[in-house]
Amino acid sequence: MSLPTSVRIVEVGARDGLQNEKTIIPAATKIELIDRLSASGLRTIEATSFVSPKWVPQLADAAEVFAGITRRDGVTYPVLVPNLQGYERARAVGVCDIAIFTAASEAFNRKNINASIDESIERFLPVLEQARADGVRVRGYVSTVLGCPYQGEVPVSEVVRVARRLHELGCHEISLGDTIGVGTPGKARVMLRAVAGEVPMSALAVHFHDTYGQALANILACLEEGVGVVDSSVGGTGGCPYAKGATGNVASEDVVYMLEGMGIATGIDLPRLIETGLWLSGALGRATSSRVARARSA
Ligand code: HMG
Ligand code: MG
Repeated sequence: MSLPTSVRIVEVGARDGLQNEKTIIPAATKIELIDRLSASGLRTIEATSFVSPKWVPQLADAAEVFAGITRRDGVTYPVLVPNLQGYERARAVGVCDIAIFTAASEAFNRKNINASIDESIERFLPVLEQARADGVRVRGYVSTVLGCPYQGEVPVSEVVRVARRLHELGCHEISLGDTIGVGTPGKARVMLRAVAGEVPMSALAVHFHDTYGQALANILACLEEGVGVVDSSVGGTGGCPYAKGATGNVASEDVVYMLEGMGIATGIDLPRLIETGLWLSGALGRATSSRVARARSA
């Protein structure tokens, strides 16, 4: 067992965290959130999504939010892009890092982006081509890697196939998403090991939702396998509007607490991150789901 000495956290709270919120949050609050996150030492902050506002009304203000953030040196602000239309909207406000997203389950992909897995990859080809020409970096997400809300079991072979394809197409990093948070450490380990047989571990990230309280255990299992990039969301906010029953992402505060406690560097100022999570829960009008923030503020 060899653990990494440092881990890069990809903060997804402003996108995955907010996309499922029913009440529209003002753009100014989203901008303040992102600026607070960068001030707490996060270096990769997913800012928003340029998806169809008909599908995700909460993020209809993507352009305003992206244009409003104070971009700090050394921080990247990737955004989700579902198609060429989203790519063009993103580029118009100066986006240099995007993420495309598909799934290992046909049923989920159909609900989420109205396409089969192969159709969605086809749809991404012109986006990838344009991104290459523009020098834009592309991350790829594979959702439902440990289970699907519609079809149940998802074969590991499909996760491997989709991850390998995204990597071959030029995604610099592939994030493996347990979209509905049903995974357990043994399964997470087996899945990651299988993907790492085809895609270099240095190009992989893990993305756990915490529906069943397994996310930290799953992350630890994946760290032991050698992963060095972990997605998380401040305050444990989140959920996908097209993944019924899924709760939030693992809380960034809890991941940072675990990593720093194990001597793994994150570069993040934990008290400041906790403060940001508490500020966000105030703005959303409900308690944080970070255990660490609750313990520290008790
Ligand atoms: P569609 O309805 O099949 O496509 O949606 P369409 O091309 O027919 O477009 C419908 C309407 O949307 C049209 O407008 C388009 O112009 C417009 P109308 O002609 O009716 O007035 N439209 C757009 N507008 C602005 N920006 C765009 C855009 N594209 C189309 N980019 C589509 C297909 C992919 C667009 C849609 O299904 C969509 O946007 N889905 C996004 C769903 C989503 O955001 N899900 C959550 C993110 S994924 C996730 O959370 C998982 C993750 O966290 C990892 C994990 O946990 O596993 C990443
Ligand atoms: Mg997610």
